[in-house]
Amino acid sequence: MSAPTACLIAIYPGSFDPITNGHLDLIARASRLVGRLEVAVLRNEAKQPLFSVEERIEMLHEVLQPYPNVEVGSFEGLLVDYAAERGANMVVRGIRAISDYEYELQMALMNRRLRPEIETAFLMASEAYSFVSSKMVKEVCSLGGNISGLVPPSIEGRLKNALKLYKLHRV
Ligand code: PNS
Repeated sequence: MSAPTACLIAIYPGSFDPITNGHLDLIARASRLVGRLEVAVLRNEAKQPLFSVEERIEMLHEVLQPYPNVEVGSFEGLLVDYAAERGANMVVRGIRAISDYEYELQMALMNRRLRPEIETAFLMASEAYSFVSSKMVKEVCSLGGNISGLVPPSIEGRLKNALKLYKLHRV
C-alpha cells in the first residue's frame, strides 16, 4: 500500500449510535488514504439516540486507539462548516448498497453547493458488513439475537447494558 496523501484531511461524520464493525472497517481503510481522519459525531438529540454523544465519543476513542492518524470529535450545525473549521478538505462516507446512494448523493450535492472546496469521497463497504447498520444491530440485540462480529467486542457489552437500562426505564 502506498503512503497516505498527507495533504488530505478528511472528516467521517455520522451518528455512530453505536460504532459497528462496518464503520470500523471504513475508518481503517480511509485512514490509509489520508493524512488525518476525524470521526465526527453529530450532536442531534432529535434522533433519540441510545447513547449520549459523550458515551459515543468514549466508545470511539476506545476502539480507534490503534489508528494514530484518526481523531474523534463532535459537531452540531452544518457538516461542511465544521469540516472547514477543522481544516478538512474531504468528507468520507460509506455506501453499503444502492439504497444508500440516493440519500448520500443528495447530501454530497448539497454539501458541494454549500462549500465547493470540500470534496465528498465514497468508500464501498466491505461485503461482510454491507448489511450492518447501528439501527439493525440495536434491534437484533434488544430482541436477544447474536450480534458478535457485527460490533467490536467492547461495544457489545456496552450495548447489552444500555438496552437493559433502556427497557427498565421504559416500564
Ligand atoms: O450516520 P448518519 O446518521 O447517516 O449521518 C448523517 C450525517 C451526520 C452525515 C448528516 O445528518 C449530517 O451531515 N448532518 C449535519 C447537518 C448538515 O450538514 N446538513 C446539510 C447537508 S445534508
